[in-house]
Amino acid sequence: MARKFNRSEKLVIASHNQGKVREIRALLEPLHIEVIGASELDLEEPEETGQTFIENAELKASLAAKTANLPALSDDSGFAVLALGGAPGIYSARWAGPDKDFSHAMERVSTALLASGSTNRSCEFICALTLAWPDGHCESFEGRISGEVSWPPRGDRGFGYDAIFTPLGHSQTFGEMDPAEKHAMSHRAIAFNQLLEACFTP
Ligand code: IMP
Repeated sequence: MARKFNRSEKLVIASHNQGKVREIRALLEPLHIEVIGASELDLEEPEETGQTFIENAELKASLAAKTANLPALSDDSGFAVLALGGAPGIYSARWAGPDKDFSHAMERVSTALLASGSTNRSCEFICALTLAWPDGHCESFEGRISGEVSWPPRGDRGFGYDAIFTPLGHSQTFGEMDPAEKHAMSHRAIAFNQLLEACFTP
C-alpha cells in the first residue's frame, strides 16, 4: 500500500519549469494543501542522469525533499515520437538547447521526421510524478496520452511541444486548446489521478 500524504504538511513542487508548476498548482488547488515552489526555496536542480522518466522524477523529488525537509512532488515528462524511436523522450528539455527555445526543439522534431522518411506521425506525451519524503521514501506514477505530430505548430496557449501535439480524437493541438480541456485529459492529469488515489485519499 502506498504511503499517504499528511495534509497538514506543506508540499514542495520540485520543478523550475513555470509551465509545469502552473499546471501542478492547478491540479492541487482543490486539495487545499499549502504548496511551495522550488524557486521560492532556492532549491538546486539536480542533473537528470536517469534513463527513464521515473528515475529522473525520483532524483528531483528526493533531492528537494531532503533539502527542504518537507515532502516534495516532482514531474519528469517528455514528448516521444514513434518514428524517431521515442526521441526526444527523456531528452525533451535538452532538445530546446541552453536558451530553452522550444520553437527550435519543434523544428528539430519536424526535420528529424522528414529525414526519417516515415509518414507515421504517432507520438505521445509521458509524465512521471514522484512524491518523495525527507526519509527517502518515494511513490511514483506514470501517465501517457497518444496523439499525432502536427506541422506547422499551432496555438500559443501551452508550453514546450504543445503546439505540435494533437491528441487522438481531437482537431486542436494542446497549444490551441482551452487549458482546462488539456488538464482534463493530459499525461500529467492521468499520472496525477493515480497519485491522488494512492497518496491523498484516506
Ligand atoms: P523535464 O521533465 O524537466 O526533463 O522536461 C520535460 C520537457 O518535456 C519539458 O520541458 C517540455 O518541453 C516537454 N513537456 C513535458 N510535458 C509537456 C506538456 O504538457 N506540454 C508540452 N511539452 C511538455
